[in-house]
Amino acid sequence: EVFLGNGVSELITLSLQALCNPGDEILVPSPDYPLWTASVALAGGTPKHYLCDEATAWQPDLEDLESKITENTRGIVVINPNNPTGAVYSRETLKKIVDIARRHDLIIFADEIYEKITYDDVEMINMATLTGDDVLCLTYSGLSKAYRIAGYRAGWLAITGPLSEAKSYLEGIKLLANMRMCANVPAQHAIQAALGGKQSIEDLVLPQGRLGAQMNLAHEGLNSIDGVSAHRASGALYMFAKLDVDKFNITDDEQFALDLLREQKILVSHGTAFNWSSPDHFRLVTLPSVEVLDESINRLGEFLSGYKQNAPSTCELPTVQEMSPAAG
Ligand SMILES: Cc1ncc(COP(=O)(O)O)c(C=O)c1O
Repeated sequence: EVFLGNGVSELITLSLQALCNPGDEILVPSPDYPLWTASVALAGGTPKHYLCDEATAWQPDLEDLESKITENTRGIVVINPNNPTGAVYSRETLKKIVDIARRHDLIIFADEIYEKITYDDVEMINMATLTGDDVLCLTYSGLSKAYRIAGYRAGWLAITGPLSEAKSYLEGIKLLANMRMCANVPAQHAIQAALGGKQSIEDLVLPQGRLGAQMNLAHEGLNSIDGVSAHRASGALYMFAKLDVDKFNITDDEQFALDLLREQKILVSHGTAFNWSSPDHFRLVTLPSVEVLDESINRLGEFLSGYKQNAPSTCELPTVQEMSPAAG
């Protein structure tokens, strides 16, 4: 059961629309790639967030995950390698997630679009190799990341496990897939060429490859800034960096991102945009060249060296007259 889509994005929304009835709950990681949370809600379901823990280099907190399961829970979303944290999950963690899904009769949604983008020889394990015949697993991947042609809008969804028990769900997916007629046809020729051709990504992720070198530089650069810390990403194209909110007096991370954009013309994404509850993170994309990343991180350091959010600027300080009770 393989479905082609106009990017993984379309397949995420389509497969959730085919599943969710009002009241159905889907476990989604926090932080997440926010399309997942939005698509569950759009499909009429309820996203419930489980914690990925910075203290364990962003591995999913399985106790938290299991504690969020109710009689309405239908599935668990696993984004591996992860956007925005860059974590790649260990075999042990993945096996435990499969055990939880098996015990509670849940579907696993495995978003593996970064499956070929891993660093430092870390082992990438595809979830479907662990789920066996008894756990329904939807695996998503596509051309946007490993083949760097996001604009072609080409992705695929492979469904494995107890298919005969999931007949009505598969019928729903087929119905929605037929309603949009088909996935982008010219791009399907690109899928064949990409999967059958030289896997240039393998060179790019080496330490001396372009993506490997950029990730190394981003890791060193961000951690050299006073008040910023970030785990080394084992995969994907991002670092989810922590800000010392006390030092910078940050209460609004979107404001921080806007201030940085206005002052230094550098765009990062604020952490709460990834369904992360505290305003203490931002995501850096490690795709720019080493030269651009180096300059940007230096300028971020310069910006932060004088940054205090909500500090009244000198020109806005009230005058003594304005402060006096007589002035109201
Ligand atoms: C985790 C994850 N899933 C899915 C997508 C969407 O990919 P596509 O271009 O195939 O729609 C992205 C894009 O950033 C992503 O990071």
